[in-house]
Amino acid sequence: MEKIFSSARAIVTGGSRGIGRAVAELLVTQGARVLLVGRDTERLQQRIRELNGLFPEHAFAFACDMADQPASADRVVDYAVKTIGKPTLLLNGAGGASIVRAMDAPWSLWVEDFQVKFFGYLAMARAILPIMTEQRRGVIINIVGIAGKDPNPALPIASAVNGALNGVMKVLADDASAYGVRILNVNPGATQTDLLTAMAKSAAKESGQNVADVIDQMRARSPLKRLPGPMDIARIVVFLMSSQADFVTGTSIDVDGGIHRGV
Ligand SMILES: NC(=O)c1ccc[n+]([C@@H]2O[C@H](COP(=O)([O-])OP(=O)(O)OC[C@H]3O[C@@H](n4cnc5c(N)ncnc54)[C@H](OP(=O)(O)O)[C@@H]3O)[C@@H](O)[C@H]2O)c1
Repeated sequence: MEKIFSSARAIVTGGSRGIGRAVAELLVTQGARVLLVGRDTERLQQRIRELNGLFPEHAFAFACDMADQPASADRVVDYAVKTIGKPTLLLNGAGGASIVRAMDAPWSLWVEDFQVKFFGYLAMARAILPIMTEQRRGVIINIVGIAGKDPNPALPIASAVNGALNGVMKVLADDASAYGVRILNVNPGATQTDLLTAMAKSAAKESGQNVADVIDQMRARSPLKRLPGPMDIARIVVFLMSSQADFVTGTSIDVDGGIHRGV
């Protein structure tokens, strides 16, 4: 039976861990050729071996720091064209979220977090859009975060980055639609990845609690009383990338178990 992404060529930034890793795995199992991007070369090589074990010669890697924009984005896209071919899918997932109060955050941290996530996602979209519009085909999905709609005082920079991404991706989607290219944001709530563990450790240190208690409290706040894993988010991402969702663009989809109260 033909795989649903057998003609797809995808770049997955942040593909070595967490949500990006799960998206890359689903794409490869559905036949896509995938280029993973992260900083840690060894971790990337390990992922490539795992993915090529599922589907030989479908996974490739490029190590770079997404803080260096727009140079990194241009290098990633050039390398993708040479290895997987002209990309038809982009998952922007390389980033984090610093736990700090707004008035305590040093200027350098604001700049650094905007460089990696806001400018990282934007530079990737700018670098890939000419290739997608030329092909009259393409989907860009950005892993943004519910703090963009529901600003969180413990995540002031992520709240600002995510809000800015909601704005800029909407206007890019307006222009890309004329070429049959879709752009969407996906907003996870707290999701069990290395990032969540790091955030829980930081919150535990601040409050004097232990990490397990902090995570239990996050779970208790969730209307569904559970925290999702990366695959819970990845399944929605891959659905939105598929032709099943070909009339969905220019919006953001919350995958947060209902914790955000806005409708
Ligand atoms: N987990 C959550 O609760 C949650 C909630 C809302 C939004 N999000 C957002 O979802 C996205 C993915 O988060 P995650 O939870 O999957 O994080 P994660 O498990 O920490 O994985 C982050 C990925 O991004 C890569 N990365 C980080 N900084 C990078 C940089 N400067 N240059 C290149 N690659 C970089 C990491 O690889 P290397 O370390 O090797 O570079 C890794 O592959 C982030 O934008 C995050 O803000 C997450």
